[in-house]
Amino acid sequence: MTATIIEGKAFAADMRATIATRVSALKEDTGITPGLALVLVGRDPASQTHIRTKGKQALECGMALFHHDLDAETRQSDVLALIQKLNAEPAVHGILVQLPLPDHLDEEMVVQSISPEKDVDGFHISNAGLLATGQAAMVPCTPLGCLMLLRHHLGNLSGLNAVVVGETSLASTPMAQLLMRDSCTVTIAHSGSQNIQELCRRADILVADIDRPKRVTGDWIKPGATVIDMGNNRIEIDGGGTRLVGDVDFETAAGVAGAITPVPGGVGPMTIACLLANTLTACCHANALVAPEGLTA
Ligand code: GUN
Repeated sequence: MTATIIEGKAFAADMRATIATRVSALKEDTGITPGLALVLVGRDPASQTHIRTKGKQALECGMALFHHDLDAETRQSDVLALIQKLNAEPAVHGILVQLPLPDHLDEEMVVQSISPEKDVDGFHISNAGLLATGQAAMVPCTPLGCLMLLRHHLGNLSGLNAVVVGETSLASTPMAQLLMRDSCTVTIAHSGSQNIQELCRRADILVADIDRPKRVTGDWIKPGATVIDMGNNRIEIDGGGTRLVGDVDFETAAGVAGAITPVPGGVGPMTIACLLANTLTACCHANALVAPEGLTA
């Protein structure tokens, strides 16, 4: 292996420590505590784990936590009524509804009912529009975390060729927009693209967001490139049990890339750190305060 490992887990821990310091100073200076509301509908085990981790880390950063656990059968009108209540609650600065929602709920309607100012996921169409037009926005946490890792590892991204493989509106598209903002030359490769591997081999920065375990192999990668793996796939392993792997085949990719994020321990921890960063930023904006530098795009 020749690639440098980009340690997202350690970087995220540093970021949470910075956020905790800022939260403490905010409380001391103003008496204001950033508040995060987490809404979970149903009992999906993976979602329960995600929500628990988000809540624990918010509390560790000194934030106030408003946890709402709803039955899997909760009606759409009741979910929307809760969000309206949280939108109007001054102590709540950020709202996250854990996805996916049970099938009977209209996910899009639920997400769009969150006030854009409290949309710490950055999924609201107003925030998507602001990002697309180059204005200050709540930026989706996973792409924001990837951008921070890239800036930390590479410094100035200006002029680099970036290829984002994927077509999700919540991750691939904002990732491409953020890279463009940092003056990269950006290509989005998707299921309709021809010669995807050839496109990828031109990339100085390669971001994989395809939900296909280990699909991107070493021969897709330009020697020395920086590879960011957004994948989070659970696969069965010999002898029983499961294991988390990325969209990139780490073993072959690490022999070619200059630097690479591992799975687990790469992009994943950055997503939650950026959720907390967005909550602190939303709290500052709600109180007409300047948000701390270095925590936004
Ligand atoms: N489910 C999996 N990842 C996420 C995320 O980043 N935000 C929300 N709201 N739900 C998720």
